[in-house]
Amino acid sequence: MGPQSRAGKGTMEREVVYKSIETEILADAVKIIRLAHPPVNALNLELLEELHAATQDIAKDQSVRAVVLMGTEKAFCAGADISQFKPVNSTTGKEVANRIRPVFDALAALPQPTIAAITGYALGGGLELALACDFRVAEASAMLGLAEIQLGIIPGGGGTQRLPRLIGSSRAKDLIFSGRRIKAEEALAWGLVDRLSERGSAHDDALEWAAQLATGPTLAITAAKRAIDTGLDGRLEDGLSLEGEAFAGTLDTQDAALGVDSFLNQGPGKAQFLGR
Ligand code: COA
Repeated sequence: MGPQSRAGKGTMEREVVYKSIETEILADAVKIIRLAHPPVNALNLELLEELHAATQDIAKDQSVRAVVLMGTEKAFCAGADISQFKPVNSTTGKEVANRIRPVFDALAALPQPTIAAITGYALGGGLELALACDFRVAEASAMLGLAEIQLGIIPGGGGTQRLPRLIGSSRAKDLIFSGRRIKAEEALAWGLVDRLSERGSAHDDALEWAAQLATGPTLAITAAKRAIDTGLDGRLEDGLSLEGEAFAGTLDTQDAALGVDSFLNQGPGKAQFLGR
């Protein structure tokens, strides 16, 4: 069953606003961002601008409680549009990097949990895009890699920073120095992929996981996400202070009042959270 058929159960409406992406909100408060720039979803200027705009909208939209980013069967995304690397010089390089960074940073900073559903190729900026999400679900046939070195360059969309934080420096160096592609199974063993899906199932599996996340206390999930991501960038001591403040803040939410009461009256795991 593809996203279309699942969407058929819960889609409120498709929002036809963009040219290189499509967005859709499902009845279970899951937002889909679908890259739709054939043949391989190369990240050109238009796609990046649209992705940025969609991400900024989602950041403000409290009706969205989880996000799934997906591509097509052939490619989640084959990276930056290489034709835009000309003329080949550092001025072009700065332009490309400056174009990509705010988009990926905005995605990484989304308050909602995010999942990349990887089918086909996730290469270069495509893998970096997936790394800006909280989780990665990949189909067994997916191929992942940071191919930039094969162009004589290095990743410029967060690959040298987000990848080693996720899988350790030597595995990141292996991928970045060689540019080789690995299969989803190896990526799973390395912790680069979180869940493996059967052929044709990555989109639905990601949507199901997102739907589950969307039933959680969204403000507490946001607080946990910020504490983890910001904490990883600094000293343990600072991270612990940050966590203390974030923890205290979650006790101000309606979901905390509801969750605590529900536990005391009905036992664990029964609370129906509101996302507020
Ligand atoms: N930027 C721009 N165009 C790209 C692209 C990219 N990152 N990746 C693929 N394309 C284009 C190809 O040039 C080709 O265009 P054409 O049909 O006009 O000739 C089309 O997409 C299909 O690609 P093709 O190579 O013919 O398909 P394939 O199935 O043999 O291989 C890939 C697919 C993705 C494995 C291969 O295209 C590839 O390695 N792409 C580059 C990936 C990369 O290095 N990304 C990092 C960029 S920094």
